[in-house]
Amino acid sequence: MRRLLLTLALTLLCAGGLFAQGLDSLDIFSITTCPGEDASTQMRLSWGSDTLATSCSVTLTEARDRRWKKARTLQAEGRYCAVYDTIWSKRANGENFNEDARFLKYDLALDSLKPRTDYCYYVTYQGTDGREARSQVYRFRTAGDRKWNACIISDFHSYPPLPGRLEAAMKMMDAVRSYDKYDWVLNLGDVCAWGGSYSFWVQMYQEQPFRDYMWASLNGNHDHMTRRYQLSNDFFRNATANPRNGYPGEEGVSYWFRYGDALFIMLNNETMRDSTGFAAASAWVEKVLQDNADARYKLVCEHYQWFFGTDGRTSQFGRWHEIFEKYGVNLALAGNNHIYVRAHDKGVVYVQTPSSDNERGQALYGPLADNADRIDFRWNEGPKTVGALHLSVTPKKMTVTLLDRQGTVVDRVEIEP
Ligand SMILES: [Fe+2]
Repeated sequence: MRRLLLTLALTLLCAGGLFAQGLDSLDIFSITTCPGEDASTQMRLSWGSDTLATSCSVTLTEARDRRWKKARTLQAEGRYCAVYDTIWSKRANGENFNEDARFLKYDLALDSLKPRTDYCYYVTYQGTDGREARSQVYRFRTAGDRKWNACIISDFHSYPPLPGRLEAAMKMMDAVRSYDKYDWVLNLGDVCAWGGSYSFWVQMYQEQPFRDYMWASLNGNHDHMTRRYQLSNDFFRNATANPRNGYPGEEGVSYWFRYGDALFIMLNNETMRDSTGFAAASAWVEKVLQDNADARYKLVCEHYQWFFGTDGRTSQFGRWHEIFEKYGVNLALAGNNHIYVRAHDKGVVYVQTPSSDNERGQALYGPLADNADRIDFRWNEGPKTVGALHLSVTPKKMTVTLLDRQGTVVDRVEIEP
């Protein structure tokens, strides 16, 4: 009962405090669970605290240990983060302001976890004034099940002055869950309108799905920019705690992880716009594919579309298809275009998500001018598009299902290992 009251009080404090005051009234914020390199036994927890914290710790136990009797407590060290501070931004009420975001950032690596297990944790904050605060309870499930599911969503461009965007995406996640349960979330980028606006992340992370699931996220072009179009990997890096196994300069932004016998390679388009950037990214991708040749399924994810949904013209497909074919990539996933496109080429299936914010979708598409032999299906609902994918994986096949906001099946593809 005490815990319930405490949780309730914290919820009210968080919800009220965010808009009324700066980060200093929040204690702990932006808690999210990211995958470890081997998601069967490793997870990486990310959060921020105000600069008055003397210490933060995580209390962790298996979900079936309801009284937290076997809980263990892990101390975490924060590092000072000011990358979002003073950035030109906008409040929920439409006021212009400069972000007031000097805080301590924590990345806590958990290992030696049990595979196929539901875990619970909370973060405890200790302040210089002796004050102690405790977060709500967060959950995740480790990989290792023979059969598992994920919700794949992207492009909701969360923007506090227009709360309907985030609401549409969260409702879409409920619709995916009504269709079939899922164990984790794969985010293909553009969850924030401006990733440089830290207040946008803080608000987004208060949504329930961030408390219930591990999120594996991609850096989208919107996550990478500020309102004044300053660009940096640091915005995405400090809003997550991804594995630091990317190539130089990309630690925690480009990364890979194993979810059971599936390999996920997570790319950052923003640093491979030119040929030098692409050379560095593709050399790393080839190495990761070689090192993980034993993975039953190989998936590569990036934010930018494979094809332009409007008329089928080649986009990122052109740069990558030979490498994907060479190493037997099964599924290539992308977002950004806001038009769902499903295509195939020499055994590789290409799928890009629709948008999910009911606002920033593309106009309806026209006839295919290119790649008619590769593109099997396209879908969107015009500017007010809301859709997401359900991924179901068994040792025999992966099934990708496109759902609309009602949870109605619009398209489906099955992929064998
Ligand atoms: Fe987008």
